[in-house]
Amino acid sequence: MDNINKTILEKGFFDEELPEGINLVKEIKYLLKKKNAILLAHYYQTGDIQDIADFVGDSLKLAQEAEKTTADMIVFAGVHFMAETAKILNPTKKVLLPDMEAGCSLADSAPYEDFKKFKDAHPNHVVVSYVNSSSEVKALTDIICTSSNAVHIIDSIPNDKEIIFAPDKNLGSYIEKVSGRKMKLWDGACHVHKEFSLEAILKLKKENPTAKIIAHPECEKPILLVSDYVGATSGILKYTQENEADKFIVATESGILHQMKKLNPNKIYIPAPPNNLDGATCACNDCEYMKLNSLKKIYLALKYEKPEILMDEKLRIKAEVPIKRMLEISAKNNL
Ligand code: 13P
Ligand code: SF4
Repeated sequence: MDNINKTILEKGFFDEELPEGINLVKEIKYLLKKKNAILLAHYYQTGDIQDIADFVGDSLKLAQEAEKTTADMIVFAGVHFMAETAKILNPTKKVLLPDMEAGCSLADSAPYEDFKKFKDAHPNHVVVSYVNSSSEVKALTDIICTSSNAVHIIDSIPNDKEIIFAPDKNLGSYIEKVSGRKMKLWDGACHVHKEFSLEAILKLKKENPTAKIIAHPECEKPILLVSDYVGATSGILKYTQENEADKFIVATESGILHQMKKLNPNKIYIPAPPNNLDGATCACNDCEYMKLNSLKKIYLALKYEKPEILMDEKLRIKAEVPIKRMLEISAKNNL
């Protein structure tokens, strides 16, 4: 973390007392307009944040939106790698992440030094990394992917080339199955998605036989095998809109339920419970990093124009190359 952002946290930035009765929604909207800023939010954000965002989307759509915006400032209601990707793609903009502690366990599962050794041990491989990775890992990568374009990215690589895929082994093995390509998988996973309980999901299915099981490909293989649909957050959402079923068991972070209910309020969405909660019926499958953002933090970020994503320019240029390749392949496939 850079020094400016560290200082902000040490000073108890978020403890600032706000005037009594402040209307945060109104204040945020006012500051967004005044500062020619846009608020981008991922589907895993809380409903109040999604509702005031200029754009809500999955990690691919958010990157595309960040690349093309003409606003002066991007406030990113998501996690660090997403805001960093926005900065890499649109470096002249001020990119703010309301809480710099909003990391990602999956990105953390591939530390730069270890990943470099892994890459060096597999020369002549095409390196494909999931966007949930650090900019240092991206700089060692040939093509980035997200969960919504991963199969297209792998399909774009000539058949005679060997591939390294990092950092998510679950997404990697899912792509292997769909594309029929064998890859060298990095052994990483998301702490939220690896926790879903197969037993609890099957129990829910027994109790709700008409329900469709829908899962993000970061879930473990047994969950994906029993799912009616596997896809990125945007794909899962689309499936609930287009499929005629009226009940869905949702195996991904619970924030996505907000858009599902908003777009199709008459259907029933049951959050799949995680392993560590016996008989849980709550939406406790939250990503605590995603949920670090709040209206108050967004307001303060806009007011002080901090915490800001700052990057070493040489690293940014290196990390930009594989992200741009991903965006080109996505555009060719109308994604
Ligand atoms: P999406 O690319 O589907 O939005 O997923 C991002 C993510 O972090 C999933 O955990
Ligand atoms: Fe990272 Fe998992 Fe949170 Fe997605 S849900 S941001 S992969 S920790």
